[in-house]
Amino acid sequence: PMMKELFGLNQLERDLESCLNLKKVIIVPGDSDQSDWVKKEMGRACARFLRKIAEPDQVIAVSGGSTMLAVAEMMMPSSAFKSTMFVPARGGVGEAVELEANYIASLMAKKTKGHYRMMHVPDQVSDQAYQTLLREPHIQEVLESLKRAHIVIHGIGNAMTMAVRRKSSQAVLDKLQREQAVGESFGYYFNRNGEIVYRVQSLGLKLDDLANAKNIIAVAGGSSKAEAIRAISTKVSRDILITDEGAAKAILSLE
Ligand code: G3H
Repeated sequence: PMMKELFGLNQLERDLESCLNLKKVIIVPGDSDQSDWVKKEMGRACARFLRKIAEPDQVIAVSGGSTMLAVAEMMMPSSAFKSTMFVPARGGVGEAVELEANYIASLMAKKTKGHYRMMHVPDQVSDQAYQTLLREPHIQEVLESLKRAHIVIHGIGNAMTMAVRRKSSQAVLDKLQREQAVGESFGYYFNRNGEIVYRVQSLGLKLDDLANAKNIIAVAGGSSKAEAIRAISTKVSRDILITDEGAAKAILSLE
């Protein structure tokens, strides 16, 4: 807390809470666009926050990405985590393996001595394969546990950055451009008003499932993500945002 006062971040947190209409904002100093340790600090802040709010026998749904990986790397055991089930929010979406939700859920379980489930589905499945996979008992089980998640932790990406990173087709890139997509989360792409303009066909958490979650925690920073964070905070992530100073100031200057 003393460090935060030093950096004047407490006021910034309150300002961002009211700007984005969130229950709680936690800001770490710096800008993760500039240096990688800032992302690690967001990871540490999220891991600490989770440890504080986690209760025994809960399901925690986790998405993918490098920020979620930073969270996973900072996780530590606790008595509540021992009976926690970490569940990937989505199957493959075309990311490098260590950025997939599957890997991150398993790493969180390993670091905390908790449990995890896997969702073994390839990315970019055909309609037919998708329908078949949906009926698989092990997939159904995972989808059911996602609906029961008490806590959902997710990253937020820039729409174009994510589409390129996932090697999306030119048709998809064109669509995102046409629809002026700014942000991405859970494989959904949003425009600046927080409306869904495109969705990757992969199995996992539906936005409707979030209605049951007690705590939805977004972790995303870097001034370049300002528009994406603002778009997604209005609709998806109504609870908690863990971000950095760079993003926080950039969001406030969008107003
Ligand atoms: O869905 C959002 C992305 O996974 C965010 O990825 O944390 O690597 O920027 P990132």
